[in-house]
Amino acid sequence: MQADQTQNRTAPTKVLFDTDPGVDDAMALLFLQHHPAIDLIGVTTVHGNAHIDVTTRNALYLCERFGIEVPVARGARHPLLQYKAEPPTFVHGDDGLGNVGLSFEPTRQADDRPAYRLIIDTLRQHPGEVTLVAVGPLTNLALAVKEDPEIAQLVREVVIMGGAFGVNGQGGNVTPVAEANIIGDPHAADIVCTAPWPVTLVGLDVTHQVLMSNDLFGQLRDRGGSHGQFMWDISRFYVDFYSSREQIPGCYVHDSSAVAYVIDPTLFEVRRGPVRVVDSGIAIGQTVQQPDDRSYAPGPWDGYPSQNVCVAVDAPRLLQLFMDTFVPTAAAAR
Ligand code: BDR
Ligand code: CA
Repeated sequence: MQADQTQNRTAPTKVLFDTDPGVDDAMALLFLQHHPAIDLIGVTTVHGNAHIDVTTRNALYLCERFGIEVPVARGARHPLLQYKAEPPTFVHGDDGLGNVGLSFEPTRQADDRPAYRLIIDTLRQHPGEVTLVAVGPLTNLALAVKEDPEIAQLVREVVIMGGAFGVNGQGGNVTPVAEANIIGDPHAADIVCTAPWPVTLVGLDVTHQVLMSNDLFGQLRDRGGSHGQFMWDISRFYVDFYSSREQIPGCYVHDSSAVAYVIDPTLFEVRRGPVRVVDSGIAIGQTVQQPDDRSYAPGPWDGYPSQNVCVAVDAPRLLQLFMDTFVPTAAAAR
């Protein structure tokens, strides 16, 4: 008898997306919306690439424009403790989406609940089923797990774009040691990385290996329909930043790499061990893992759960996964 394909198919992974859109955040949102392995069930916003008013407006705009019918909850305005730096308008534009003159008039309203409450409610509603994908500063996640520590047992997985672990000499992108999302709220990041839930960090060690070239952006523009054209448009400012600062013909794939991990973790090699975040001094925002396969003197990692840190990536396959989601017969890795 022929097998029932529908019975054998794995159910899509429920994802709650915590984001600070953000050019690459917008691309990651569309990736989540379009990939069949994902069931996007909510969006929470956070300060980061722009002020919270701007990132929330952008999330509402993106969801309305692209028909993403999920609750959008406004999140934290500031980091938990530290002084908030000015948003990096030189990376994502004054409007957070590349300064292309979008007419922002979303009619949709944000959910009544603050982001941390939507996170708690969603995890309680679907115990064991929801993956949190966080691609901005981790303030909302820290507030949620502080408010309701039991959610650590209810989440399926926490996947974070953030950190720089020194793999092959990889440093930070804000300071020599700190990555933007982590230094955006280092105290929150330490709470999230040390909570008893399964965390995977997709940091610069891998995202700097994944280059979205201008050729790939051109394929998106020419053959990726309205979504591809949109990604081309909003990415011009971002690509200019990367081209001039890093001398690369395109940009790194940061936030969409975290989405790719959820879709296909075999794209990455991970290292296990507890992770701590430096929260003061010149190394503030540095992420440091103590690998499980090394022994050290007693230290600040003791007693905390082992987490996954991505240390290698199959970049051609990741790019192909992204491109295949938007462009039939895309030529990313071929
Ligand atoms: C991270 O910082 C932001 O600029 C991007 O959206 C990404 O989440 C990369 O360091
Ligand atoms: Ca982001």
